[in-house]
Amino acid sequence: MLAPAIDGIRLSLHVLAATIWVGGQLTLAELVPTVRKLSPEATRLAARAFARLSWPAFVVLVLTGFWNLGAVDMSSQSTAWKIVLGIKIAVVAISGVSAYIHTKAKSTVGLAVWGSISGLSAVAALVIGVFLAN
Ligand code: HEM
Repeated sequence: MLAPAIDGIRLSLHVLAATIWVGGQLTLAELVPTVRKLSPEATRLAARAFARLSWPAFVVLVLTGFWNLGAVDMSSQSTAWKIVLGIKIAVVAISGVSAYIHTKAKSTVGLAVWGSISGLSAVAALVIGVFLAN
């Protein structure tokens, strides 16, 4: 059975924003060593360009995430589903906060640690989201 148009739009926006927030972080992490060879400034410029796309995508994720919640019949969801949802919201918060700290980090270790936490928690939010979808 085809999903109603409004559900298709809601989930497409949520998944499109997830591809940017999650896939973009993984892609940028892979590109950084190569970009760094171009010039000392190149990594910072690439990161800033990515931020212009990734933060709006994160906002869309949170807005469409709450839209998802509005569209779900909560009374028919199991306790396990609600617990997993709570874990997902916590993981999303970790991803956003760690990405923000990453942008403010000065040391290489700080950049690596907070960048890794942000990327891993973003992947975790994606996987948990797939389990929530039904
Ligand atoms: C880093 C942020 C996030 C990522 C990467 C993410 C990713 C995803 C993905 C991939 C799906 C599965 C879509 C599908 O298979 O159709 C999903 C579903 C879902 N997400 Fe998110 N999400 C994020 C943030 C949020 C937030 C903040 C909320 C709640 C406030 C939320 C609530 C939901 C719900 C309820 C579903 C199930 C929707 C349904 O079955 O109709 N998500 N998410």
